[in-house]
Formats: sequence, structure tokens, C-alpha cells
Amino acid sequence: MKKRCLLTLMIVLLTCMAFAQVKPIVLGDRHAMLKLTQDSRYLLLPVQETEDIASIAVLDNYNNMVQRINVKLSIDRVDYYVPFEIRGTALLDIEWQGDRRQKGAVGDFVCWKDMKYSNEFDTTNREKFRPAYHHTPLYGWMNDPNGMFYKDGVWHLYFQYNPYGSQWENMTWGHSTSKDLVHWEAQPAAIEMDWLGSIFSGSCVTNGNDVVAFYTSAGHHQTQSMAVSKDGGRTFEKYSGNPILTTSDIPDFRDPKAFWNEDAKVWNLILAAGQEMRIYSSKDLKEWTYESSFGKEYGNHSGVWECPDLFPLTQTTKQPNNQTTKKWVLLCNINPGGPFGGSATQYFIGQFDGKKFTCESMPKVTKWLDYGKDHYATVSFYNAPENRRVVLAWMSNWQYANQVPTKQYRSANSIPRDLGIFQYGEETYVSVVPSKEMLAVRGQKVKKPTETCEIVVDVKNQTEIILSNTKGEEVVMRYDTTKQTFKMDRTKSGDVSFSEAFPCETKAPTYGQIKQLRIFVDRCSIEAFDADGKMAMTNLVFPSEPYNTIKVNGGKATIYQIEN
Ligand code: FRU
Repeated sequence: MKKRCLLTLMIVLLTCMAFAQVKPIVLGDRHAMLKLTQDSRYLLLPVQETEDIASIAVLDNYNNMVQRINVKLSIDRVDYYVPFEIRGTALLDIEWQGDRRQKGAVGDFVCWKDMKYSNEFDTTNREKFRPAYHHTPLYGWMNDPNGMFYKDGVWHLYFQYNPYGSQWENMTWGHSTSKDLVHWEAQPAAIEMDWLGSIFSGSCVTNGNDVVAFYTSAGHHQTQSMAVSKDGGRTFEKYSGNPILTTSDIPDFRDPKAFWNEDAKVWNLILAAGQEMRIYSSKDLKEWTYESSFGKEYGNHSGVWECPDLFPLTQTTKQPNNQTTKKWVLLCNINPGGPFGGSATQYFIGQFDGKKFTCESMPKVTKWLDYGKDHYATVSFYNAPENRRVVLAWMSNWQYANQVPTKQYRSANSIPRDLGIFQYGEETYVSVVPSKEMLAVRGQKVKKPTETCEIVVDVKNQTEIILSNTKGEEVVMRYDTTKQTFKMDRTKSGDVSFSEAFPCETKAPTYGQIKQLRIFVDRCSIEAFDADGKMAMTNLVFPSEPYNTIKVNGGKATIYQIEN
């Protein structure tokens, strides 16, 4: 009996601690401070996404600022919580941007009432749109994949991450690992902001036992920095000689992709600098020599050039002589300027000698890696086994990424894809197929589509595929053999109301005939591929219930459950 009383008392005490009212020191109509008085792991911060940002200076016991974070603290409603790890913090100095007077007195904001001390943070996701077999952050916002590499049987994926909200802010490198490119395990954030700036996109290379990360420090100006991991990519120590690359004349100077160039026996690095890509070389990864620039007048320039990648691909011609052709591919993500508005990945094919990339196409030729609207910031894994070139994209579009109808987290990556090259007419193109790991999660055949399935369609001439649900929501896909095009229409796919740029039809060239389509459905996304790799199309959808009916005119569908 005594024991039970004690237990109840403890539970009551713990609950009281968790909900103990937080008392701010109000200093003005947009300024308050908060002394952190309780010894728990987290202070849970309530967020209201439609509100202005509160800029929070995090101070230690000696009044030194250790961090600055931007959080949309709740004014009159709580959308969700984010965990602030206390780690010895003594004081939060909070200043709101924008005019607070409309919102009432700072002391009355609901954030104070709803802030909680806690040793736990519940990351259970109960949102219906959270994908089952695509990588997503445990909570919070994600954009570009960063620093991906493979080592000792593990695929490492870092990503642009906001740990303090589900919209873009506070750029940090989040981290997840996987043994099969499908099941991902969340890891602690790997690289956090510092006084050089927030941590924008970049890459990793392996050098002996070290993992070396290159990223953009986005402060007043964009500069490039380096960090080294001695524990296989779990934690990184920033290099004392940062920044390692700077410029005085270009505001958009970012997203370094470094790699070992086996042909030239040199380290290379490519980054986006305004409307072109700059290429550097190095012997020691620390000192970089500018070699050349590529891109002026080539391809599409209707937006900012970002997130480059540069790698060789080989094509083996069929019998009789099994000749191999090696070409270099330069990936160039661009936003806006995509074929259907907003963000997309274009690429160039040519040769690279460690110093200069020479494009083999005419300058006006533009090639897109994926013809959907939700495929951006594509980059490849460093050091993938079996000479594979595996890529992941961020499955969203800057036109509406911050508004898509999820809250606890925002954004997923595409399924992993393997790249190759193929020839059509006079031009060489990059082929895209789902990575072989996707076959391993193919489950049993099912009669109807489910919210997580792969639909394989053997197509004939004109083929129409309609996915729909009982609410009358539908996605219509059409393969036209005469025009050699594949289209996907999501104008009636479900919730399209959050952005005028969302409802649309996307259209891809198929470069000749298609025999089979592979269509991956995962709650809020549809990725369609030509099984031979000549076409890829990635689109988000937000149906109010899963599509459970399929109608195929002029073709035959086989549906597999995806087992996760
Ligand atoms: C691309 C991008 C990158 C930048 C990052 C910031 O989506 O704009 O150029 O490094 O996002 O989060």
C-alpha cells in the first residue's frame, strides 16, 4: 500500500513538473526572457506555423550566447511541439520579429502556458500522409539530401533539417542510416549551426577511416566549410581553418560536392556560383585550386543553379564487341525554372579531365532527370558499391514545400534510383531506374491498389491508367505511343488547395516506345518509371483516402503490396 502511495505521489510530482507554468520576464512588446529553472532534458516549445518568428538567443550560466534559433512560438494556438535540448542552458532571450502589438501582450501568449519541461519527446507520427517506405525526418522540416556516402555496409544520408519546426529554418545536417536504402534509422543531428552561419547543403567523402564533410556556411555571405568525422559519420568536428573557400562577388555560392577523381588522381569539388558551376581541385582536401567554370549559356537559366554533382557513367554496348563508353554527367538543380514550374533537376553530359567539364550537346539543349514536379536537389552517394551511381531526390518543390498538408514533419526523399546512360537519336541521356533494393520489398500480389504498393503495367500502344478512391479523387496517367509521351494529371488527386501551383499535369518524353511502367505509391506520392529507365516522373498527391481502385485501358496491371 505504502509503495503504491509513493508511486502515485511520484507520478503526480512528475506530471506537475512537466506542466509547471513557465514564467517569462516580459521586457517590452516584443521582448521577453525565460530562466530555465528545471533540471530536465528538454523544454518542449509550442509552435504556431502561421505566426512570426521569435529569435531565441540561448545563454549559458556565464551569460555567453551558445546558439541562436528561430522558432514560431505559439501566440493563440498550438500546432505541435518541438524539443529544445536544455544541455546546460540558463536563459533564453526571446525577441519577436514583426509587429507584435496586434497580437496582445507578450505575457499573454499561449506559449508560456503550454511550454513543458520533459525528459521525453514523443516522435510517434500519427499523420496519415507520412510515407511508409520513403525516408522522412523523425519530426521537423527536411529539404535537400546532403553528404550521402556508403561505408562498411551502411548508407549514410544527411539532410537539410530544421529541428525547431516543420518549415524551413535553422539549417542543420540531420542524419539517418540504412542497410538497404529503404529502412532508415534516425540518428542525432550531425552538424549544427555556428557563428559562420547555418549549415547549408554539401557532401561527404571517405578518406581512409575519416569521413570528411563539405558544406556551405550560410551567414552574412555564403562560404564553404569542412568538418571531419572520426567515428564513421556520427559526429563531426569542424575544421579550424574554415572557411576553406570564399568569394567576394557572388551571393549564391554554395552546395560543394567533393569526390575523388580516379582518372585524374586528384580530389575535385564542384559548387554552384550564380549561373554557373565552379570546379576546383585539391591534393589534401584543405587547399583548393580553382580550375574552371561551366554553364554560361548552357541549358536552363530561369532560376538559381544549386546542388551540383559530377560523376562518370559507363555504358556497355550489347554484343558483338561489348564496348564500353564512359561519359561524365553534371547534375544541376535549378529553382525556379523546372519544366512545370519551380524546382527540377537538369543535367549535362560530356567529358571531364579533372580540370574542365566539356558538354557534348549544343548549349540550347536542356535535359531533365525527372519530369514530375516533386523531384529536387538530386545528388548521388559517394562510394556506392559495385560501381553503382545511386541517387536520392528531395520529393518536393519550393513553390509549396512549406505548405503541404502535414505538420509533425514535412517532406520525404524519393525512392533510391540507379543511374545509367542510353542513346536516343543523336543524344545521350541519363537513364533512371528504381534501385534493386526496391524489388526486395516487393510483397505479395494484391487485387486492388493500396496506400503502399507497386503497380507494374505492361503497356500497349495508347494506355490510360486511372487511380481513384470512393471520394471521386483520381490521378490519371496516359502513355501515348504516337507522341511518345507519358503524362500524369493530379488536378483532382485530393487536397490541392494549399497552393495554386500544386494542381497540374506533368508530361515526359519517352524517347521511343515503352514496354512496362513501374508505379510506386506511398500515401502521398506517386513515382512512375519506364522499367527500362528512359522516363521518370515523381509527383506528390494528398488524397483524403487511399486510392483503392485502378482502371487500365490498353494495358495490364499487376499490383504488389510493398512490405516494410
Ligand atoms: C536547395 C537549397 C540549396 C541550399 C539549401 C538550403 O534546395 O536552396 O541551394 O544549400 O537549399 O536549405
